[in-house]
Amino acid sequence: MLVETELSSFHSGILPSLSVSSVLSVIRKPVHVACIMDGNGRWARKRGLPRTAGHTAGEETLSDVVRAASKREIDYLTVFGFSTENWVRPRAEVKHILGLHKKLFGRIAELNENNIRVNWIGRPFDEPGSQTPVYVQRAIRKAIQDTAANTGMVLTVAFDYGSRAELTRAAEKLVKSGETLNVENLTKNLYDTLLPPVDVLVRTSGESRISNFLLWQISNAKIYFTDRPWPDFDAIELDAALALIDN
Ligand code: FPP
Repeated sequence: MLVETELSSFHSGILPSLSVSSVLSVIRKPVHVACIMDGNGRWARKRGLPRTAGHTAGEETLSDVVRAASKREIDYLTVFGFSTENWVRPRAEVKHILGLHKKLFGRIAELNENNIRVNWIGRPFDEPGSQTPVYVQRAIRKAIQDTAANTGMVLTVAFDYGSRAELTRAAEKLVKSGETLNVENLTKNLYDTLLPPVDVLVRTSGESRISNFLLWQISNAKIYFTDRPWPDFDAIELDAALALIDN
């Protein structure tokens, strides 16, 4: 890593407009944490509550974890909000989870206070088979737009996301374009071409499966499994997951 005195050469003409911190942030490898937020239903059942109460608690936990992650200088936090497979859940539960996405994407003031930029990955809304209601599309677009100027952590919500669909689409795009099929070109055709590789993947609630999440992006990630259900996940667990990352 460059020390401040070495950086003075940048200030003396080569890169006069860049601050020390912005130069360091370019040099430092970004830290990317991804979360499969499992166990909301079990958390609720244990308390004699409906599953929806577990999801509501899960959204509140997510909001706390987002704040904790941005304070820890995590550069990218990517969470699995709703999978392409989740549409088959009971209608009322799907409606409730969609409403929670609207709530999360509506936390603009909180996100701006913490300098967090919102991002989304998932099946494009104009793709055949897309079921994302217009009110969720609007909430996603608005959150992205209203936080676009922020320079801190990037919060990516995977909504109507499935990794196999993402990879199949990327391969199809490559074949159509006639470009060579290689790692670099396939990466360029993912939903978000700027998401760096995941450093640590968290999965809560005692399940040790990947569930079709970011299969390409986690190729070299550490995996942190915890028995705690997502509503009980906290900053202490986040630190334990971060400790797995090689420096
Ligand atoms: C898994 O719990 C969770 C989900 C399918 C949905 C994730 C949604 C949230 C955490 C709510 C807030 C998040 C956002 C992005 C608004 P489960 O229902 O599979 O739990 P179970 O395995 O115990 O039944």
